[in-house]
Amino acid sequence: MTLVEAVSLRRVLDSRGNPTVEADVLTEAGGFGRAAAPSGASTGEFEAVERPPSEAIAAAREHAVPRLVGAVHAGNQREVDAALHAADGTDDFSELGANAAVAISMAAAKAGADTVGLPLFQHLGGSFRGAQTTFPTPLGNVVGGGEHAAEATAIQEFLAAPVGAPSVAEAVFANAEVHAAVADVLDERGIAAAKGDEGAWAPPIDDAEAFEVVDEAVDRVAEARGFEIRFGLDVAASEMYDADAEVYRAGDTERTPAEQRDWIAGLVDEYDLAYVEDPLDETDFDGFAELTDRVGDRTLVCGDDLFVTNVERLDRGIETGAGNSILIKPNQIGTLTDAFDAVERAHRAGMDAVVSHRSGETEDTTIAHLAVATDAPFVKTGTVGGERTAKLNELVRIAEDAV
Ligand code: PGA
Ligand code: ZN
Repeated sequence: MTLVEAVSLRRVLDSRGNPTVEADVLTEAGGFGRAAAPSGASTGEFEAVERPPSEAIAAAREHAVPRLVGAVHAGNQREVDAALHAADGTDDFSELGANAAVAISMAAAKAGADTVGLPLFQHLGGSFRGAQTTFPTPLGNVVGGGEHAAEATAIQEFLAAPVGAPSVAEAVFANAEVHAAVADVLDERGIAAAKGDEGAWAPPIDDAEAFEVVDEAVDRVAEARGFEIRFGLDVAASEMYDADAEVYRAGDTERTPAEQRDWIAGLVDEYDLAYVEDPLDETDFDGFAELTDRVGDRTLVCGDDLFVTNVERLDRGIETGAGNSILIKPNQIGTLTDAFDAVERAHRAGMDAVVSHRSGETEDTTIAHLAVATDAPFVKTGTVGGERTAKLNELVRIAEDAV
């Protein structure tokens, strides 16, 4: 019934105005799925390889489509993704392009779900997800800089975390209110700010002032809303690290790796941070382990560039105690199967798996379903902007569906 009947590929725009790969998958029974690849700016060195969209499409038409059409079932995700790996023949999707692979993988999942008449989160998570009672808390990027905006904070993302919200919808609206409250606090300080790639404010201030601004904005909304809102960070420290000099550079400040760890540990306590992603360089497993030892009982220490959704790198983290959570981005590894394997491995090791968008996004909503299907504690989707609200609004709909 879910046998793949056709796969078509095209270039569409992403939120930065760059071309990206979109795939359509049609099944024999008339099921249809469409998905588009996101794209990172602060990409990890160890991610699967994205190819220019026109090259990725040509390679996928030549090598992948013949292995899919009339040959695999969209309802069997492992079969689809194994065909993509076989068509690629490398260990980093450098032949097909991880962008073509992930678009096809996600479109097939949607076509499989459509054919059997299930919402995607249920199809991906198994039917026990029908009685979902827990939902991921959206982490809302409200202030940021790094690779996502010039002349702004060194820390890439300050993320509102409405952990006390009574529902997904309340959490979604709270994050938007924190985003608006940040604009008010900046205005009161006479600071004008543009927006970065993910829609976060990108003010020309240093990290220390950004902490004051976000702390104030979060407090105002928490008080008005009457539930707990914390915040977290994506430091994206690999972008700050100078490997030759062995220092992290943030504005005029230089920190040795030991000083960077002390700085982060101090911030976790001072601001009661709920979440700290990539606080150290993507090669520093030992540093992650030391930091996790110090603060892992009270915050999530999450590896994004460190793990790149890759089970081999995750295994190294599990062995060394580096981090207590992994960020899951399907396009970092190329297929939904690989992403699910990473989630499963993390869960077995007692780690949390947080699902995430990329800085370059489309209206695709797959990650909202993936986060629910895998019972993620948090989902990173941004806060405002159409490509971000597409996921947030889908989460609201899923929550309504599932209870
Ligand atoms: P990217 O940033 O999509 O530009 O890699 C997001 C992140 O680092 O989490
Ligand atoms: Zn990150």
